[in-house]
Amino acid sequence: MCGIIGYIGEKPAGKILLNGLRKLEYRGYDSAGMLLLNKDKFTRIRSVGDIDKLEKKINGQWPKGKMGIAHTRWATHGGVTEKNAHPHFGRAKEVAIIHNGIIENYRELKEKYLKNHKFSSQTDTEVLAHLIEKYHQKHPLKKAVESALKKVHGTFGLAVISKKEPDKIIAGRSGSPLAIGVGDNQYFLASDATPLLTHTRKIIYLDDGEIAIIKKNNSYIYKIGNNNQINKKAQNIDWNTEEAQKGGFPHFMIKEIYDQREVFMDAIRGRLRPKEGSAQMGGFNLKDKEAQKIDRIILLACGTAYYSCLVGKYLFERLAQIPTEAEIGSEYRYRNPVIDNKTLVFSVSQSGETLDTLVSQREAKRKGAYVRGIVNVVGSTIAREADGGTYIHAGPELSVASSKAFTNMLAILTLYALYFGRLHKMSFETGNKIIKELEKIPGKINLILKQNEKIKKIAYKYSKYQNMLYLGRGINYPIALEGSHKLKELSYIHSEAYPAGEMKHGVNALLDKDFPVAAIATKNNLYEKMISNLEEIKARKSPFFVIATKGDKNIQRMTSDIIYVPKTIEILEPILNVIPLQLFAYHCAVKLKRNVDRPRNLAKSVTVE
Ligand code: AGP
Repeated sequence: MCGIIGYIGEKPAGKILLNGLRKLEYRGYDSAGMLLLNKDKFTRIRSVGDIDKLEKKINGQWPKGKMGIAHTRWATHGGVTEKNAHPHFGRAKEVAIIHNGIIENYRELKEKYLKNHKFSSQTDTEVLAHLIEKYHQKHPLKKAVESALKKVHGTFGLAVISKKEPDKIIAGRSGSPLAIGVGDNQYFLASDATPLLTHTRKIIYLDDGEIAIIKKNNSYIYKIGNNNQINKKAQNIDWNTEEAQKGGFPHFMIKEIYDQREVFMDAIRGRLRPKEGSAQMGGFNLKDKEAQKIDRIILLACGTAYYSCLVGKYLFERLAQIPTEAEIGSEYRYRNPVIDNKTLVFSVSQSGETLDTLVSQREAKRKGAYVRGIVNVVGSTIAREADGGTYIHAGPELSVASSKAFTNMLAILTLYALYFGRLHKMSFETGNKIIKELEKIPGKINLILKQNEKIKKIAYKYSKYQNMLYLGRGINYPIALEGSHKLKELSYIHSEAYPAGEMKHGVNALLDKDFPVAAIATKNNLYEKMISNLEEIKARKSPFFVIATKGDKNIQRMTSDIIYVPKTIEILEPILNVIPLQLFAYHCAVKLKRNVDRPRNLAKSVTVE
């Protein structure tokens, strides 16, 4: 996520903005920039790399100005370059903007409204700056911003300043948070409260669809496109800085589990093609005709990303009938893999720097496969060395244990399976049903999150055991693996996962009253088989809890430790079923007083063999 900071008041803005950026560093970024307005003069300074580089560029020569905006960029559109760093200008450099979010239709906006404009960057934000400035030639700044935002599809948290109206900052929010800091004859704006708390505890949070005029002694808030002022009281925020960075959550892990209800949409937004009952990924770089010839798919990854690939295997084979293998990066590179020019290899990675995955990707490329990335970090090595691919738009994932990146990987794998399915035998109706169900997922994730307290109780009960067995069948077996992985890396409790059908082939020997089980028994074509497994577990007196489909009363005769998830189509069950297992592992770790965001012996990105 990008970081935004704005200031308007009586003090020199430069140091206030730079210190504000430092407080936003935790959000993750790859470049930074600031802009001050002094009378009718803009001074903009930008740099790639960390805030120190920006400060070095300023070199003590602080630009004049008592108002300004500053930004830390987490690249989504366009590489990591100084030209792509914010703030961005309109064509005549009369308007400057900083933006957090994704403008999905920026290409269409360019084509339709900005035909003869020249752009200095590859960003969607610069297009928005040009559009706002174009409207500003005829309208006051607030109306100009509203006119532009009405044309935008996507998400934004943005700040805009104009040479023609040097007494205000305009802020607008839809999908990316914004907070206003109320000072004494000075006002602040930021992506979250963190950088504001050193100046003020009085914070006004903008809600989606709102726009604010921020002056040095007041702020005026409206619904975008409306001139009736909304009265919003400032809240008194008593968080310390660390709590503010986590948005009030105690750990990044739980914050990022909750982030999933928002960021999931960022993975699919602008990529669905309901008219064709299909999906389209901009960076895939393969024409339909070439894609139709693909006769084998390899999904390369490690750890949690690998478990998303195991789900991907089910998705591609079920939806597109293309033979698909999920391969562990550290193993694949030492085999002599069978690859030809009709093989498509996806490297799936949050960091885009996992060496085992990267080296396997290089091997596949050397042998002539099509190689594409499914990656979170823009401009990372895996993304750069692949010949295209798709960013999962999960935003920076700061907890070592992955959560939102995993569900966004599943989202992208589903979109690709849908795309390939519709290139082959999948009907328009089936494709459209998948699209409709995908769009309901964020609301269903939210319903699961509302059971957090119940899941916490179950976790506290099971956290006393030394072992845990996770069971699932079919497309939910990889979720049993991921649930077990989460428990191991967060709580250090030993756990393992099996396809439930394997119980009778040896695993049953483990079962007794001290060996608990977590079972995924949602209503699908394997439900009855899972019920038989639960009977076996009960007979051997192992304690167990179950992930079940909302409304399933039958399961209540087996156990009272039930976590209900909303019904969805089977291929999307993994996205929902993993959420309670993430929360379960998190609460076990908290109960056991583990270092939740930084588990022992682990790194966020494994760049060694
Ligand atoms: C997941 O919780 C772990 N942090 C780890 O298994 C991780 O998924 C693995 O190291 C792969 O990382 P990547 O997605 O950045 O490639």
